[in-house]
Amino acid sequence: MDTANIRPSLKNGHIDLPIPEGINIREEIAKMKKEKNAVILAHYYTPGSVQQIADFTGDSLGLAQQAAKTDADIILFAGVHFMAETAKILSPNKKVIIPDLATACSLADSITEQQLLAFKEKYPGYTVISYVNTTAEVKALTDIVCTSSNAVKIVSQLAPDEKIIFGPDKNLGSYIKKITGRENFVVWNGGCHVHDNFSYEKLLELKKSHPTAEVLAHPECPPQIVDVADFVGATSALLKRSVQSSATEFIVATEPGIFYEMQKQSPNKIFIPLPNKNPRMALNECFNMKRNTLEKIYLTLKYEFPEVDVPEHLAKKAAKCIARMMEMS
Ligand code: 13P
Ligand code: SF4
Repeated sequence: MDTANIRPSLKNGHIDLPIPEGINIREEIAKMKKEKNAVILAHYYTPGSVQQIADFTGDSLGLAQQAAKTDADIILFAGVHFMAETAKILSPNKKVIIPDLATACSLADSITEQQLLAFKEKYPGYTVISYVNTTAEVKALTDIVCTSSNAVKIVSQLAPDEKIIFGPDKNLGSYIKKITGRENFVVWNGGCHVHDNFSYEKLLELKKSHPTAEVLAHPECPPQIVDVADFVGATSALLKRSVQSSATEFIVATEPGIFYEMQKQSPNKIFIPLPNKNPRMALNECFNMKRNTLEKIYLTLKYEFPEVDVPEHLAKKAAKCIARMMEMS
């Protein structure tokens, strides 16, 4: 039966149907991928079981680049909603599907279109650089998009006296301001519920109990944590560092989904997750990324639903600032 045109009902953002009994879910996903010429892109923060069946895993920039160049007919994006939206903007003629529409991002939600409009009015003549973790509406009001991989590189290419609005991540903003020494650089006060909540006290304790461990931190972490880290970078840069460093132990201040790939590439090294400030949250996870499961991927691929679409007028504007990022990366 052709299931591609059936629209099953959604519950909490995902298809509300049982998985047929006795099927091998991984084999079925692989079969459908081939039949439908579909590609699965998964962010490093999704569960290991999802990364295992993906065609490409990567950080925000790596996945956006894959989405732009794939020749598949369908992109299944296992990540969060804004990432699937970016894939759709980059590949408007492809069908982009997502296992769960409720995969929000606290950082993307920390600035709305209206808030950015008001901020731009307050700072006329400023160039707007937005982190890729933003909605299509916010991107449509942006001059240049960046990710944590290329933010410093992009800002460094602008004239030294250029006035810049950076948003929405306050921590990444203050990191870029410090590294580039920019004066005219105003930062929106937004943050990620994961990175902004790593425990500095726990970091000091872990450094004491593991004196030879290298500290790897994502620039979305608060300055206090970034300042004591041995290496700061986007998720893919932290992964690369963990492979290339001569250290054998690492304290990692980013979402622990990355441990799947770190451990795979360095099976003999030890990776220690930095806990959340909240002592009841031993592992500081992004619950949105963890909404991606094999069951939802199976159903989404089967029904090619739910689909992510971006209205043409927004997509056209957003595509321009993403294209500028690609040129400057
Ligand atoms: P990168 O994938 O650019 O490292 O960003 C981290 C993140 O929080 C993605 O949502
Ligand atoms: Fe958004 Fe933070 Fe989750 Fe990344 S880790 S998707 S920035 S909430």
